[in-house]
Amino acid sequence: RPGAQEWVPPEGDVDALRQAAPGCRGCELWADATQVVFSSGPPGARMLMVGEQPGDREDRTGEPFVGPAGRVLDEAVEAAGIDPANVYTTNAVKHFRFVERGKRRLHKKPAVPHIAACRPWLLAELAAVHPDVVVCLGATAARAVIGHDVRIGDVRGQVLEGDDAGDAAGRVLVTTHPSAVVRLRGKPEWDEAFGSFVEDLRAAL
Ligand code: URA
Ligand code: SF4
Repeated sequence: RPGAQEWVPPEGDVDALRQAAPGCRGCELWADATQVVFSSGPPGARMLMVGEQPGDREDRTGEPFVGPAGRVLDEAVEAAGIDPANVYTTNAVKHFRFVERGKRRLHKKPAVPHIAACRPWLLAELAAVHPDVVVCLGATAARAVIGHDVRIGDVRGQVLEGDDAGDAAGRVLVTTHPSAVVRLRGKPEWDEAFGSFVEDLRAAL
C-alpha cells in the first residue's frame, strides 16, 4: 500500500483536492467502491468535522453523511446551535469499505493501514481549510486527526490543544460517532446519548 501522498496536489485548495481525489490509488479500497466521497461544506468553514468513512448511501451519492448517521448529525448540529453553513464535513477514509451479504453491502471498519494511507488527504484538507476547531466523530477520526489512538471515554467533550491534539490541527474535540447514537433511537438510552453528543458539539462551538 503506497498511501495517498503521491495523488495529493501539494498546497492544493479544497477544489484542487476534490478534483484529484477520484484518481487516488493509495490503498485498495477504491477498487470495490462506487466513487470517492470527498467532503461537503464551505472551504472557509471555522469548524471541521471528521467522520470514519462513507457508508452505503454516501458511496452511491458521493456526498458524506447523507444516510442515517448524517441525519442524527444534522439534528445534533442544529440542537447545539451550530450554523451548518460554518461546518466543513469530511471522513478519515474516503472510500467505502464493505463486505457483501447477498444483495446487501455491510459496513466494515477501515483498518489502521487504510487510515494511514488516506491520512494525506485529511492533512491536506486541514491545511486548506485551517478551521478554528476540528471535531472528531469517533475513534477512527480521532486516530486520523491526532495521529495515535485515544480512548473516547477519557477525552470526549474536552478541547485538546498542543501535544494532546497532535500537530496537524490546532484545537481538537473528540466525541462519539453518530452511528453509535442512531442505534438507540426509540430506546430509553436515546435521550442521554443524544444529549451528550449535543453537549460535546456545543463545547466545540
Ligand atoms: N459515517 C461516516 O463516518 N461518514 C459518513 O460520511 C457517513 C457515515
Ligand atoms: Fe485513496 Fe483513501 Fe480511497 Fe484509499 S481510501 S484509495 S487512500 S482516497
